[in-house]
Amino acid sequence: MNVTITARTTVATGVVALSLKSGDDLPPWRPGAHVDVTLPNGLTRQYSLCGDPADRSTWRIAVLLEESSRGGSAWIHAQAFEGDALTVSAPRNLFELEPAERYVFIAGGVGITPILPMIAEAERSGIPWTLWYSGKSGKSMAFTDELERYGDHVRLVPGGRVPVDEVLATPAPGTAVYCCGPESMVEAVENACRTWEPGTLHVERFTAATPQDGSFDVHLTQSGVDIRVEEGVSVLDALLEAGVEADYSCTQGFCGTCETRVLEGVPEHLDDYLDHSAPTDTMMICVSRSRCARLVLDL
Ligand code: FES
Repeated sequence: MNVTITARTTVATGVVALSLKSGDDLPPWRPGAHVDVTLPNGLTRQYSLCGDPADRSTWRIAVLLEESSRGGSAWIHAQAFEGDALTVSAPRNLFELEPAERYVFIAGGVGITPILPMIAEAERSGIPWTLWYSGKSGKSMAFTDELERYGDHVRLVPGGRVPVDEVLATPAPGTAVYCCGPESMVEAVENACRTWEPGTLHVERFTAATPQDGSFDVHLTQSGVDIRVEEGVSVLDALLEAGVEADYSCTQGFCGTCETRVLEGVPEHLDDYLDHSAPTDTMMICVSRSRCARLVLDL
C-alpha cells in the first residue's frame, strides 16, 4: 500500500523516525510487528513498527543509517522527507509478544524499536518488566526521552554492554526474554538462556545471522536433546542418526512431510516447498540448514 511520510524526526545520532499515514485506517498490528518498505530504487527493507498499535491513523518506523548501507537506509536518510510517498507491506509479526508472568527486554542500539511497543503493552497489562538498553553512546540511543516515564524499569547502558550473564544468571520460570540488537548481543543472550526453559527466549536480529556453511547445533525441545549437524549432513539425517524420530518422505525438500517448527534461530531455507516470499516459522529439515550457530526446533 502507499503511505505518505507525515513527519521525519532525528531521534538519535544517525537514526530518523518516520511517521506514515495512508489516508484511511492502517491495518492493525501487534507489538513486535514489522513492515517491508519498498523504496523507489527497488530495494525492500524491513522496519519494526515502533509507535502505538492503538493509533490506526499513523505508523512509526525508525531507520538507522548503516555504515555499509547498500542503498536502503542511505536512501531513506538522503531522500525520504515529509510529504514523500513510500510503498509498504501489511504488518507481519515474527517477534510476537507472548503471554508471560514477567518480561526481561534487552535491546541494543536501534533494536529498541520493536521493544518500545512491547514495554508499553506490558505496562498497560500490569505485567512486571525490565528493560536493559545499550548503545554506542547516549547520543546514539533513540527514544530515551520516551523511556524516562518508566523510571527504574529501564536500565540504560550508554557506551557499554548489557551485563547479560548477570541479568540472566538465574532462570526464572514464567519469564519471557525478548532481545533485539547486534549479533554479539543476541549470541550472548542466547548463550545465557541455554539453562532457561525452552521457549523463554525470543530474539530478532537486525539482519539475517551470518550464513553458516558448515556445522551447527540443533536443540530439540520435545526430546530435550542437543545434536551437532556436521557439514554435508542434513538435519534430518543427524536426527535419525541420533535415534530421534521424525516424519519424512521425499528427503529432497519438496513434499512438506518433514516441516518442523523453528522456535529459535534463523534457518537457511533450501527447500522447494515453502513460499519463500513470506516469513515462516517452520523449516524443511531434510534439506534446509542454519544461518546461525544454533537452531531450536519443536521436535
Ligand atoms: Fe519431503 Fe522434507 S521430506 S520436504
